[in-house]
Amino acid sequence: MRASTSLVCIVVNLAALAVSLAAFVAGASGVARMTSGAPLARRAAQHASARARTGEEIFRATCTGCHGADGAGAPRSTVGFTNRLPDFTDCNFATREARADWTAIVRDGGPVRGLSRIMPAFRDLLTPEEIQRVISYVRTFCRERSWPRGEFNLPLAQTVEKAFPEDEVVLTSAIEMKGPGSVSNHLIFEKRFGARDQIEVDVPFGFIGRSGHSWSGGLGDVSIVPKHVFFSSLASGTIVSGLAGVILPTGDRTTGLGSGTTAFEASVLAAQLLPARSYLQLQGKVELPTDRSRTNQSVFWGAALGTTVPFSPITRIWSPMLEVTGSRDLIAGAPVAWDLVPQFQISLSALQHVRAGVGVDVPLTEKETRHTQLLFYMLWDTFDGPLFSGWKGWCPGCEH
Ligand code: HEC
Repeated sequence: MRASTSLVCIVVNLAALAVSLAAFVAGASGVARMTSGAPLARRAAQHASARARTGEEIFRATCTGCHGADGAGAPRSTVGFTNRLPDFTDCNFATREARADWTAIVRDGGPVRGLSRIMPAFRDLLTPEEIQRVISYVRTFCRERSWPRGEFNLPLAQTVEKAFPEDEVVLTSAIEMKGPGSVSNHLIFEKRFGARDQIEVDVPFGFIGRSGHSWSGGLGDVSIVPKHVFFSSLASGTIVSGLAGVILPTGDRTTGLGSGTTAFEASVLAAQLLPARSYLQLQGKVELPTDRSRTNQSVFWGAALGTTVPFSPITRIWSPMLEVTGSRDLIAGAPVAWDLVPQFQISLSALQHVRAGVGVDVPLTEKETRHTQLLFYMLWDTFDGPLFSGWKGWCPGCEH
């Protein structure tokens, strides 16, 4: 009896197991049916709406009303305002700005860079990724690849020159307080031509202290130097340019402001972009006077390592840099003059077209004849805007 009871139990249990197995298989196939049927189509539709929009789709939906489908600016009759609209198909304009600047403008609106408030802020409408995608699309309106990108328009160092071709006016001053003292200035005009060329005219003037507390001052040797960009690649973050020109004997040799001879100068300039908006700028230069009895041939080299840090309010940025420079005359046994130049550059205007640099040139060698100098410069990017416009910007929280 007991045996038969247990047998029944086993049969019942086996049957229950079979039923639950069958139920499991049926259930599983039911799930399979569900995913292959109508619900799958619904999911696909949901997925499509969540699919990341391309930069072009974002631009067409959000920006064409003002900027036009071709990026050249919608007609004035349709936009309802008369303000200037940028032409993104004009490479000369569209390649100058670094991505960080356009990101700030699209995210926080025109006033963040001293531009019109008609350019809206999209931070509540577009995600940071969408802003990057739409900017990448805006970049495609310039079809010529030869233009070096604004990312290479790095902060100017005190000594090493920039590889990027520019439209700029720069006034520099070097003040030496020890010894008889001197103030050396340069007024530099830089004019860009096309994608890769620039001409630079450097007008030095200065004052040199004399014994007996008198000073002599005047014009130095004016130089006229064209610059050409040989290579630039955003992918590798590298730009390489060359300078070659003439230094005219316009300065008075007897006061020490001029060399008294025409000279040729040639430089190789390079910059390498590093992570986190950091960079390395390099220069190697040779100066070859035509009359070597008056001035020696000489070489100069320098490297500037720096980074760009936005600080609150976000319309301003500053760039601390450390420069190491060396120079020597090309005569046997001439010593090398090494210098260390800690410095920083700061943007003064919201448009960032007016900037100032401050530094100290500390001689590391030849200290008997060379003294510490205070270095200053002011620069105005003449392409970006008139000197007195674009100073006032907006930033989150600055209204108060
Ligand atoms: C309501 C009109 C309007 C809309 C919409 C608009 N913009 Fe603008 N945008 C402007 C105006 C006007 C300027 C020029 C501001 C100035 O120069 O003072 C401008 C300037 C810009 C600039 C700066 C160009 C420079 O001078 O360096 C960028 C970049 C830009 N817009 C991108 C966009 C993108 C991307 C979108 C869409 C997500 C967009 N804009 C939508 C009107 C608009």
